[in-house]
Amino acid sequence: MKNKFTVLFIVLTLILFLRSAFVGKTHEAFHSPEEISFFKAHFMPPLDSGQYFSIPQNCKGCHGFDSLGLANVDANGMDVNLYDDWETSMMALSAVDPFWKAKVSHEILVNPANSLELQTLCTKCHAPLGHYTAFYKGQPHYTLADLSIDSLGKSGVSCHGCHGVKDSASLGSLFTGHLPYDTNRVVYGPFTTPMVGPMQLYVGLTPAYSPHISESKTCSPCHTLISNTVDLSGVPTGTTFVEQATYHEYLNSDYPLVEMATCQTCHMPKLKIPSRSPMAILRFQAEHRSTCIRFREQTISWCN
Ligand code: HEC
Ligand code: HEC
Ligand code: HEC
Ligand code: HEC
Ligand code: HEC
Repeated sequence: MKNKFTVLFIVLTLILFLRSAFVGKTHEAFHSPEEISFFKAHFMPPLDSGQYFSIPQNCKGCHGFDSLGLANVDANGMDVNLYDDWETSMMALSAVDPFWKAKVSHEILVNPANSLELQTLCTKCHAPLGHYTAFYKGQPHYTLADLSIDSLGKSGVSCHGCHGVKDSASLGSLFTGHLPYDTNRVVYGPFTTPMVGPMQLYVGLTPAYSPHISESKTCSPCHTLISNTVDLSGVPTGTTFVEQATYHEYLNSDYPLVEMATCQTCHMPKLKIPSRSPMAILRFQAEHRSTCIRFREQTISWCN
């Protein structure tokens, strides 16, 4: 009797196994073709070896507009995705701005002897990701011609351009486009315990907490520009000229110590109502919200 059951059990298992082997092949794919083409359009492959930075389009799939209205919305369901706001900011346009390109070309006309140095300088802040990729690869210069065929450079001051800046003792004393980037595929943000899985999987980057991202010193490398001076024939005179010093104007104002306001306080003000999750930028318009439909604890404290 017991043996009969054993035989029956083996036969049944065999039938089930064979069935799954053949019938399994006709199972429907987990994702529909529409879903797969959506993923392909919105999520690019993670960074390849030899790449240091990601283009902002790679961030759009999760940090952009959610057609279902679930992610990147405030408590009233209003879309507050940060990608769309960043996209129309001056920083997003800093490397494609025709006025900027015209000014660089004009500087070259006036100063042909220093053409390569000029272009390399101007692209430091206006096209940082292209400039620094070239620099890390040992290229001595990064020019308008290099930029014209480089989507990373053309993305301007994009997501990775700010979030890749790492903290160091010298941050806040680095100006004129000296950007201390983390080249180990880490991006810094204000969440103390970010959900790391989705970004590691889809963009090959690890989001990590660091308080410096909320401090003015993160803006200092690009918001003070001190250039070397040359005479009318283009020969360096050994002195420097302060072209703009927004960061120093700020340091010497009442804002840092009396008002306790950072650049972010005014230019990236927090939302008044909770959202998934908050951070708005006043002038530069990029509003930062968290992603993947998580209601952060930080949200509540930030909005008070
Ligand atoms: C240290 C970073 C840095 C470097 C290097 C730099 N810029 Fe800028 N540039 C800025 C910032 C920041 C602004 C915005 C200033 C503001 O709005 O007050 C700006 C604005 C401009 C604008 C105005 C753009 C507009 O449409 O309003 C032009 C033109 C410009 N830069 C040209 C140049 C040229 C040419 C060079 C190279 C000689 C250069 N920049 C190098 C940071 C830099
Ligand atoms: C697959 C989805 C996905 C993609 C693509 C994606 N992110 Fe994220 N990102 C997330 C999630 C999820 C979090 C964590 C949110 C949370 O914990 O509430 C996050 C958090 C962040 C943070 C905050 C980290 C912190 O500790 O505060 C930054 C900065 C960030 N992402 C930048 C980027 C950049 C830059 C790109 C493009 C190169 C990108 N993300 C692409 C899903 C994504
Ligand atoms: C107390 C609030 C406050 C703080 C702090 C502050 N800003 Fe501003 N900032 C403003 C306002 C207001 C304007 C002028 C806007 C206008 O003219 O329409 C401005 C203008 C600017 C501009 C020129 C904008 C343009 O369109 O040309 C830049 C660049 C800038 N700030 C960068 C910074 C940086 C970098 C810091 C930190 C070092 C900083 N700001 C700190 C409020 C602030
Ligand atoms: C990688 C360099 C870089 C970093 C880092 C950077 N900026 Fe900028 N920023 C620029 C450049 C370049 C422009 C000018 C773009 C143009 O006019 O073409 C600019 C323009 C601006 C403007 C004026 C344009 C507008 O949209 O109103 C504001 C405000 C500003 N930045 C604020 C900040 C703040 C706040 C931070 C720090 C959180 C910061 N920036 C960090 C390079 C940078
Ligand atoms: C000019 C620099 C700058 C650029 C460009 C920028 N960010 Fe941010 N971002 C910041 C700063 C600074 C904070 C933290 C602000 C704070 O603590 O108040 C932040 C916060 C965030 C956060 C966490 C806060 C939240 O509410 O979600 C995410 C996620 C994020 N950024 C993603 C992005 C993405 C994606 C892009 C490109 C579309 C981008 N950032 C472009 C400077 C920048």
